[in-house]
Amino acid sequence: KKAENQILIIFGASGDLTKRKLLPALFQLYKDKLLPDKFVVLGASRTDLSDDEFRAKADEFLSKEEGVEDFKKMLFYQPISPSEEKDYGKLKERLTELEKQYKMEANYIFYLSTPPSLYDVIPKHLASAGLSKSEKFFRRLIVEKPFGSDLKSAKELNISLLNYFQEEQIYRIDHYLGKETVQNMLVTRFSNGIFEPLWNQNYIERVEITSAENLGVEGRGGYYDHSGALRDMLQNHLLQLVGFVAMEPPVVVEADAIRNEILKVFQSLRPISESQVSKYVIRGQYTDSVIKGEKVLGYRDEPGVDHLSRTETFVAIKFFIDNWRWAGVPFFIRTGKKLPTRVTEIVIHFKSVPHHLFNPSQSLSGGNNQLIIRIQPDEGILLKFGMKTPGAGFDVQTVNMDFHYSDLADKHLSSAYERLLLDCMQGDATLYARGDAVEEAWKFVQPIINAWGTNPEIPIYGYPAGTWGPEDSDKLISPRGTWRYPCKNLTDDGLY
Ligand code: BG6
Repeated sequence: KKAENQILIIFGASGDLTKRKLLPALFQLYKDKLLPDKFVVLGASRTDLSDDEFRAKADEFLSKEEGVEDFKKMLFYQPISPSEEKDYGKLKERLTELEKQYKMEANYIFYLSTPPSLYDVIPKHLASAGLSKSEKFFRRLIVEKPFGSDLKSAKELNISLLNYFQEEQIYRIDHYLGKETVQNMLVTRFSNGIFEPLWNQNYIERVEITSAENLGVEGRGGYYDHSGALRDMLQNHLLQLVGFVAMEPPVVVEADAIRNEILKVFQSLRPISESQVSKYVIRGQYTDSVIKGEKVLGYRDEPGVDHLSRTETFVAIKFFIDNWRWAGVPFFIRTGKKLPTRVTEIVIHFKSVPHHLFNPSQSLSGGNNQLIIRIQPDEGILLKFGMKTPGAGFDVQTVNMDFHYSDLADKHLSSAYERLLLDCMQGDATLYARGDAVEEAWKFVQPIINAWGTNPEIPIYGYPAGTWGPEDSDKLISPRGTWRYPCKNLTDDGLY
């Protein structure tokens, strides 16, 4: 269904996210003919640009395909200082002008892609300019991450947003939910009769999630040094993945039905107390190294990073979900920068058979059945199971059965931002994080933040850039086994 005619106002339009993600995603939606019949983007930022200058800047990040010139005609720009209340009058006038010019309805999406310090200022000024409410038209607000930097600030931000917008108007982005493969987890689980009966503590031995990046902080040292892997990846993206893996079947595929189930998962996370942090959580920081013959800087030497920084660029955690389905099943998550490759995957380890008929000495305590859900790259699913090694005797070997999205050659895997922008345009918040769940996720990580902040005895392990993080992260899983060491291709493993 096509979305209603509307204007997308991007605060922070001269920033990186707009150029690298938002405009290319909008262009793709334009090429796919998914944009509303009348659609305008109004960039709003402090930099003084004309419409033409904004279009020229956008051009650098848009592919030179047919239609790009027509697409650029939808882009406009209004210089404003987002913290100045008086500038919102100018913004309002500009919006009215554009509506007249295009003879269109006044539906607005406001996209906050600014530094988070402006997240409570902009909604407030929008409200006083009368831009946050309308009887006839929709007003939506997209808020980029980070959504708070701890439980307290996230709560304050929720309260402040709710002063000016209703929860139904607020769309909190977690771009992992926009990934095709993350959504597919619901389809894999709930459209097949063969997985769900096994999806519980009777058959699952452990769940493992890895989200590795080979990049470092890439010029974002100033931001990252105040954030770290726990806040930057685990509190949001990776816990949302846990929500999808662990949730109960929703009653319908609708925003609240699905988000209620995610909330319940977060509410069932067994708290890790401050005194348990060193037992359940391992943190690391990359040190200088040589990768493929090239010298690589350590984290503390990155621009914008404190030379004595104790910010983690790697975190691994073990935790439990205390509910009927997951009682006693450990979940292991790790994420880090400057690891050997870029890969995100979920591994469901099934319990082994009750009695080992064949080569008992080789049977690991966890068994060899694994379902690997590959979020990126080489998106797909792989099932590992035992088969008879041809020849005499009854030797068992593990083999793979796999599906790769690349086999669906005619289908374009849309980027997370394409999907999420389109959903917001259509008023569907299913793949956006709800305020209560965001707070619940912060509640879970808060004791870890506290312990690390106050107890210098908790080690931060160095790991050479280009390796899989501190060796101690393996101790978390031991004696059950080790982490799976995945490669770029879904079907290769253990090569690093
Ligand atoms: C962002 C983090 O939210 O997610 C980055 O701030 C991280 O540090 C990125 O690199 C990872 O996203 P993706 O889609 O590349 O896995």
